[in-house]
Amino acid sequence: GQEPPYLDLDRLEARAREQLPASVYDYYAGGAETETTMAEAPASWRSWRLRPRVLRGTARVRLGTELLGTPVRTPIGIAPWAYQGMAHPDGELATARGAAARGALMTVSTSATHTLEEVAAAADGPQWFQLYRLHSNRHTDDLARRAGDAGYRALVLTVDVPLLGRRRRDLRHRFALPAGLRMANHPPEGDQPTLSDLATATWTFDDIARFGELSGLPVIVKGVLRGDDAARCVQAGASAVWVSTHGGRQVDPAIASAHALPEVVEAVGADVEIYADGGIRTGSDVLTALALGASAVFLGRPCVWGLATGGADGVAGVLAGLGEELTHTMALCGLDDVRSVPRDTITPAR
Ligand code: FNR
Repeated sequence: GQEPPYLDLDRLEARAREQLPASVYDYYAGGAETETTMAEAPASWRSWRLRPRVLRGTARVRLGTELLGTPVRTPIGIAPWAYQGMAHPDGELATARGAAARGALMTVSTSATHTLEEVAAAADGPQWFQLYRLHSNRHTDDLARRAGDAGYRALVLTVDVPLLGRRRRDLRHRFALPAGLRMANHPPEGDQPTLSDLATATWTFDDIARFGELSGLPVIVKGVLRGDDAARCVQAGASAVWVSTHGGRQVDPAIASAHALPEVVEAVGADVEIYADGGIRTGSDVLTALALGASAVFLGRPCVWGLATGGADGVAGVLAGLGEELTHTMALCGLDDVRSVPRDTITPAR
């Protein structure tokens, strides 16, 4: 029979690469500077080894959990990523449908090619809205308010872009959003911004509570790699902290999420939910993150390749494939609930 595409994400990426213009593929696939952080990310999850338990009488694995009180059918969510209209004509709308089909949480980027209201209306699955500064402080405040009005369940402040990372592939291609696509959350009048116009160098810890009040939503701070920063975010009103290197697209070489996660869990894990992303490619990568104290993980590029090759079904296929791997690995390890994966499930590789 035919091999399901999700079993091998490298092959899914190879298929996407054949379909996409080189500059678009490189925008999605690339990282900053020497791409060291990006390259090390999957291996960093695999610097841990599983310690399976036997004879636990485990018959059924539960993937369902709650994230900030919102029920989801899987702890594997979709990270915010920009410009989805380059991957598929339906862009973010297709991703929203794929996520909803699997009961997975989708995070919608400010840099979407559909408006935040259009994406919210495209499917009835749980969604968070990711905020950058766009156009002006006033317009950005307005986006936060609109996210609350549109039914998003939380606001994700991405704080690792005080300025845009130096992405050599994009500089080489002079990458820009292709003609016919636009940043739909930008005001219709006026020039379209570039990615570097989204930078948030002026944001401070005070903006966490401010955006929370404007939107009426819990605020998640994305892009934290230190325990001390995580503690300050929580003191400033953050409801959750998202450990991320932005897929290795910002600071390079930055510490891997897998190596920063324990310090963040130690600092604030008793007080708030913690999420992680970057290089999660297998069910055992997910299980390792859960054992380290994450409540959920998020996928960037695997969903890009799913969307590019199969639209909503492709996104759903990636989520289903990784979910099946997670279920399988948990059952092999004698674990039955993603909400309570013990820390001693893992040990450093030797
Ligand atoms: C991103 N990421 C990102 N993050 C964010 O907060 N807002 C954004 O608009 C984007 N845009 C974006 C575009 C592309 C093409 C990629 C690959 C990534 C970062 C993203 O949310 C996430 O942190 C990483 O993608 C996770 O790493 P993996 O799974 O791609 O290795």
